[in-house]
Amino acid sequence: MKRTQFNISVSEDTFRIDTKNTSYMLGVRDGLFLGHFYYGPRIIEDDITYRSAFAPEGRISRTDREMVIFMDGFRFEYPGWGAGDSREGALKVQYEDGTTRVCPLFRGYEISSSKAPVPGLPSTYAAEGDVGTLRIDLADPDTDVEVSLFYSAFYEEDVIARRVEVRNGGDGKMVLQRVLSAAMDMPGRDMQGRPFELLTFHGTWAREFTRQIDPIPFGRIGVSSICGKTGNRAQSFLGIVSPGITQEEGEVYGLQFLYSGNFSSMVEKCPNEDIRVSVGIHPEEFSWVLMPGETFYAPEVVMTYSDHGLGRMSRSFHDLYRRHLIRGKYKEQKRPILINNWEATYFDFNTEKLLRIARQAKDCGIEMLVVDDGWFGKRNDDNTSLGDWTVNEEKLPGGLSVLSSKLKEIGLKLGVWFEPEMVSPDSDLYRAHPDWAIMIPGIEPSRSRNQLVLDVSREDVRDYLFSAVSDIIREADVAYVKWDMNRQLSDLYSAALPAERQGELLHRFVLGVYDLQERLLTAFPDLLLENCSSGGARFDPGMLYYSPQIWTSDDTDAYERIRIQEGAATLYPLSSLGAHVSICPNHVTGRNVPFMTRGHVALAGTFGYELDITKLSEEDLTEIKRQTVLFHRYNDLIRNGDYYRIASVRDNGAYDCYGVVSKDKSEMLLTFIHVINRPCTPNRFIHLKGLDGEKRYRVTWAEDPEEQPEVVAEAYGSTLMNAGLTIPCMNGDFRSVLYYIEEI
Ligand code: DGJ
Repeated sequence: MKRTQFNISVSEDTFRIDTKNTSYMLGVRDGLFLGHFYYGPRIIEDDITYRSAFAPEGRISRTDREMVIFMDGFRFEYPGWGAGDSREGALKVQYEDGTTRVCPLFRGYEISSSKAPVPGLPSTYAAEGDVGTLRIDLADPDTDVEVSLFYSAFYEEDVIARRVEVRNGGDGKMVLQRVLSAAMDMPGRDMQGRPFELLTFHGTWAREFTRQIDPIPFGRIGVSSICGKTGNRAQSFLGIVSPGITQEEGEVYGLQFLYSGNFSSMVEKCPNEDIRVSVGIHPEEFSWVLMPGETFYAPEVVMTYSDHGLGRMSRSFHDLYRRHLIRGKYKEQKRPILINNWEATYFDFNTEKLLRIARQAKDCGIEMLVVDDGWFGKRNDDNTSLGDWTVNEEKLPGGLSVLSSKLKEIGLKLGVWFEPEMVSPDSDLYRAHPDWAIMIPGIEPSRSRNQLVLDVSREDVRDYLFSAVSDIIREADVAYVKWDMNRQLSDLYSAALPAERQGELLHRFVLGVYDLQERLLTAFPDLLLENCSSGGARFDPGMLYYSPQIWTSDDTDAYERIRIQEGAATLYPLSSLGAHVSICPNHVTGRNVPFMTRGHVALAGTFGYELDITKLSEEDLTEIKRQTVLFHRYNDLIRNGDYYRIASVRDNGAYDCYGVVSKDKSEMLLTFIHVINRPCTPNRFIHLKGLDGEKRYRVTWAEDPEEQPEVVAEAYGSTLMNAGLTIPCMNGDFRSVLYYIEEI
């Protein structure tokens, strides 16, 4: 008998989870084994158990004689360890006798109309009744390991959120050696029979989010982090894509991990061409002691499928994050236009200098001054004082509260930089509590930027940090905190953990960071938090649960930012991408890009400035005034609209183009960047996307909001999308233009 509730159907031993355009099917084989049957375009057929294995029934039927063949070929939904499946396992448990086999078998299920938060971890949310959750319970009858798999269907967004809980149902101690959050065995070819490829994003400092697509070789391939945070070397994202994937065409399975620490996102191609996808906390440097009755909560994975190319995947993730992950006052509000003093002054500032910047900024329409690194302790360079969160009164007499009230008189809010997770060996905090730093007793720890990492897995350390940071926020009425994190973790040892629990440190560290940020947001619900890690080294969906925006990169060169922001926007909404206009020659690349283009590129993000505004020409100041007006005019559209990537300089080497279309398709903001000029360059015909073909639109230059907009064209959406919009050729490199397209 078939039963459907909250987009989840159960029929015989098969479960189907539907979203608007997709179906996900799993089921039970022989009453025992939970298999993955299908994930793809929406279907209505229930009986597809034949998809649970790669080979015809006869060849892999389960017999006592050939159990290993079955275990090694069955498409498992959540594979265990050591029972004959030699592919990447999702769960490995060590028992008191030293053995590690675990074979979770089906036990039952439940469907509910809500989605519970995950204790201590970020997770997607929805109001009661808005999202259905399927819970499947598994257990290993031989070892008392109990596993619950949770699937929640975000219907409109075409996203399924998955997570796992592992319980010790026995009476002996267990040590979890790996608990991945999701696994999926699927065919290795797309619907046209072409072998799937792997889309990932790699990077380094100032070069985050570099897109890469590779064939999937036989064996294991993937991305990972073992540095204690997400890191900039790779996004934890995995995309399984059709060869030649474009914005509109081809299949893509996208998986993202809502976690900010070590991860392993792996793909394994098997001899039978099946691929196993697995995502979770990296098993290296992870173990967790689970006492009888205790539960371990693994972080959430969100996944989407699109048979309409990458564009649909991006928009699904954007909607999911904007509606069901980002929280707080700024979830739906414009963020203040800020000016950050980092590239303006570095460590060399005082109240007077900041106020001069503030006055000029106010005159140009900027709304908040952010005091970056260097306002505390004896911090005149980056060798000292992290952990001593008391104001340097030589620079800021009377403290941040004096600066704050003077800013208020000018009409600006105050934002402040912290790096709470760190301590300088040259600090009062370190001298008082050397055991609060993560390091191995008797071994000189590796420093990075001359700093050590605080053991925020400890409650006493978190208590200190919470009161230090919140005292400053309260005293100086701080509206915004930039939470930085400038090194990876090494020399792992926590003075607060017994030897058998040292393997828990990295996960406990991440839980500690989440706990601290949650406490701050609870104490200061109006606070705008921006996470940062040497640029984008902790840009992940986990952090978005706490901060609606994340600093995307220390590379503020607009040309570099086109590429970085294109990569980031493949996964994250524009409203979350920290983007500022900075000075030229750019401090990272030495490149010169016109001021107007720098503004246009930063508008596709949170928008702000990072330069000494007191040293700009009148011409540049006038441009800032225009840009801040543009921000107010178009930010609602940019924050809330659907993102369409139209052309990429990464592909064509010459120009870049993207647009944001309102949900009701009544307006669009189009950004075109003429990146490299060449003689005899033709006019470009840009085929707009996302408009309503039947609607008629007026296209204007969005350049000067003060003047009557110049009408460029009037046409139906179908004309603009199919025949295209002519962009006249421009002279010079890095030139850009914004078009506003409005229904008439
Ligand atoms: C790294 C950040 O990414 C920068 O924006 C800046 O805040 C510096 N840290 C300050 O030390």
